[in-house]
Amino acid sequence: MNKRPIILGIETSCDETAVSIIQDNESGIPKILSNIVSSQFDIHKEFGGVVPELAARSHVEKINLIAKKALDESGITLDKVSAVAVTSGPGLIICLSVGLNFAKSLASSLKVPFIGVNHLEGHALSPRLQTNINYPYLLLLISGGHSQFLSVNGLGSYTRLGTTIDDALGEAFDKTAKLLGIEFPGGPKLEKFAEKGDPNKFKLPKPIINKGGCNLSFAGLKTAILRIMKNINSEQAKYDLAASFQKTIEEILYFKSKIAFKEFSKNKVLEEKNFIVAGGVAANNGIRKKLIQVSNENNFKSIFPDFELCGDNAAMIALVGLEKFKQNKFNNLDLSASPRLPLDSSAKFLKGPGIKL
Ligand SMILES: Nc1ncnc2c1ncn2[C@@H]1O[C@H](COP(=O)(O)OP(=O)(O)OP(=O)(O)O)[C@@H](O)[C@H]1O
Ligand SMILES: [Mg+2]
Repeated sequence: MNKRPIILGIETSCDETAVSIIQDNESGIPKILSNIVSSQFDIHKEFGGVVPELAARSHVEKINLIAKKALDESGITLDKVSAVAVTSGPGLIICLSVGLNFAKSLASSLKVPFIGVNHLEGHALSPRLQTNINYPYLLLLISGGHSQFLSVNGLGSYTRLGTTIDDALGEAFDKTAKLLGIEFPGGPKLEKFAEKGDPNKFKLPKPIINKGGCNLSFAGLKTAILRIMKNINSEQAKYDLAASFQKTIEEILYFKSKIAFKEFSKNKVLEEKNFIVAGGVAANNGIRKKLIQVSNENNFKSIFPDFELCGDNAAMIALVGLEKFKQNKFNNLDLSASPRLPLDSSAKFLKGPGIKL
């Protein structure tokens, strides 16, 4: 019998119903036995954004099926599962509740540990599904709801160095795509759209570029795009605007990463300085190229998760579950969903008007 723990991970925090089964491995890199992700793009398309009630209903309808598919594909039977891990926050509360309730029932019926996972910690550790990375490392988390530079000190230990003071980067991509008339979900399609345009055609703002350390701000870009859109009517001008947006984001991240490198390196002697870029927006090729460049120039090694592990998935949730399992960090079955669950709970809340940087 194989004694290496097997974790069943579940993710339902937003509009992906996902179940994955992973197994610990002596290499330190767990084996992904299955990783099923079912997206709900078609359900939300006509509304131009995620409708929480419809998302939750779809999770309820699909979770059994997706779990069965993940088990079938892994070749694992339920009696071999060592623990059940599930996203407990942050996310849409009614969506989180579906995964949590399913996970609790499963864990209690199997009589195995139940482990609640912070979705952001899933993104933060996701490259560890492919490569061994020593702590601490610098993380840039760029997703639909978050944009932060963090020092990842160890499992459950994070120091936030910078955060967005308004929109998340994925949100900026989604909103810009919507203004440009790109069909939902527009964020991932924007880069392709931009390839047909001239990136130097429009000069867009780079909010707080010269202040606030490695904090970020993207809301001003959306306002600028809205203003420019009122005065353009050709398809080519839209391509040019998309290209200008893509280039501006690359430049902001290049500049702010340099500041984050300095802050992360302060008072540290490290043999190897790793820069992990994770979250849905890490799938953007132009951003990847620019961040590889800035890392090379500053003696950091850049590491990106594979494309299928950038967006929401349950393998990253199972991974955090596995690391917690090894440290006996389990939860009781009364764990509730947390719509807001920061990685660094001691960091100041930096959102809204009147923020002093
Ligand atoms: N190639 C791409 N270029 C730019 N943005 C992208 C790309 N692919 C995905 N995104 C963006 O990534 C976001 C989705 O990422 P992810 O699934 O990690 O976010 P989320 O789970 O909604 O938010 P969070 O993880 O913060 O709770 C969306 O905003 C989407 O537009
Ligand atoms: Mg996510």
